[in-house]
Amino acid sequence: MVRDYRGRPLRDLRISLTDRCNMRCRYCMPREHFKSHNFLDKDQILSYEELLLVVESLMPLGLTKVRLTGGEPLLRKDVCSFIEMLPEELDIAMTTNGILLERFAQKLSDAGLHRVTVSLDALDIETFQAMGDTKEKPETVLRGIEAARKAGLEVKVNTVIRAGYNEHSVQRVADRFLGTDVIVRFIEFMDVGATNGWDNQDVITGEMMRTMIADLEQLEPNHVGEVANRYVRGSQEIGFIESISKPFCGDCNRARISADGSLYTCLFTNKGNDLKSLIRMNATQENLAAAVTSIWSKRDDAYSQNRGKVETEKLEMSFIGG
Ligand code: GTP
Ligand code: 5AD
Ligand code: SF4
Ligand code: SF4
Repeated sequence: MVRDYRGRPLRDLRISLTDRCNMRCRYCMPREHFKSHNFLDKDQILSYEELLLVVESLMPLGLTKVRLTGGEPLLRKDVCSFIEMLPEELDIAMTTNGILLERFAQKLSDAGLHRVTVSLDALDIETFQAMGDTKEKPETVLRGIEAARKAGLEVKVNTVIRAGYNEHSVQRVADRFLGTDVIVRFIEFMDVGATNGWDNQDVITGEMMRTMIADLEQLEPNHVGEVANRYVRGSQEIGFIESISKPFCGDCNRARISADGSLYTCLFTNKGNDLKSLIRMNATQENLAAAVTSIWSKRDDAYSQNRGKVETEKLEMSFIGG
């Protein structure tokens, strides 16, 4: 098993299947910054065969989980055929905005997806459309969630809370899923990327959010490296992802691969490690495993813990993979 410079293993690979998205969340892809953006062309993007080679190369190094992200992963053509190719022993999950989920849920489940995390920032149409800069409706996402549950997928909901936009979502989204097995997680607005105009004053901390929900009791983490701090009220599990106020770099076991085949060892790094060139020079599984071992062994990233102390030019989350 490979360990980084700080002793952290590589467990979780987050694969960005596309840098495109059908929403324009203000905190992620502000429309004015993405109007003339050059999205990746098809030939720049790793094929499913190439991605599978990366996944299989990482398994002997300790990989146990794959999460498909984007952009919006359901925009990538034939996504189900890729899920079918993935080794069954992996924990296979997807993060989606849910707009296309109703149509895809059963097919995703049949293909072998285990879990889906759906972003939903508000239940009222005004806030939903303002945060997502979209004409879509929250009902569409709710129908997607319902379809995913019916198809037997484990469902989590991610709600980013941004001051002045959707503080009221803490109570409303938590209440909406009371009595269901859907786990809701509230996320502190993060300073990821270079376009979302992040300011410390826009952050509602997990601690502040917890004052908005009565009768919460804290739970133990499920596993080392889990990003959410887990709580329950009665039988409902509610998580808080507090990367600003309580950074969790100490156990971070996540690697990311962008759609164009660069490996990133931190969400906040701007230095990718080009695996695509290696792959397109016919690298074997062993060659790739050796390259990633070398990259991971030198990994010293802990951006969230060092926030403010180091200035880096950051890449967009829609590119590097949420
Ligand atoms: P589980 O397997 O269900 O625990 O999934 P997860 O929590 O790893 O995945 P998810 O995509 O739901 O992550 C939730 C959110 O946490 C992301 O959308 C990010 O906002 C944030 N997040 C995830 N990984 C990192 C990370 O490595 N660093 C930071 N700072 N934030 C992260
Ligand atoms: N802060 C916090 N979470 C973010 N996400 C995207 N951008 C940000 C940000 N600036 C989350 C989305 C989604 C996942 C892909 O990442 O809400 O759940
Ligand atoms: Fe798209 Fe997700 Fe980013 Fe929103 S947060 S713009 S849905 S990738
Ligand atoms: Fe991991 Fe980097 Fe996020 Fe810290 S800031 S948890 S090292 S991805």
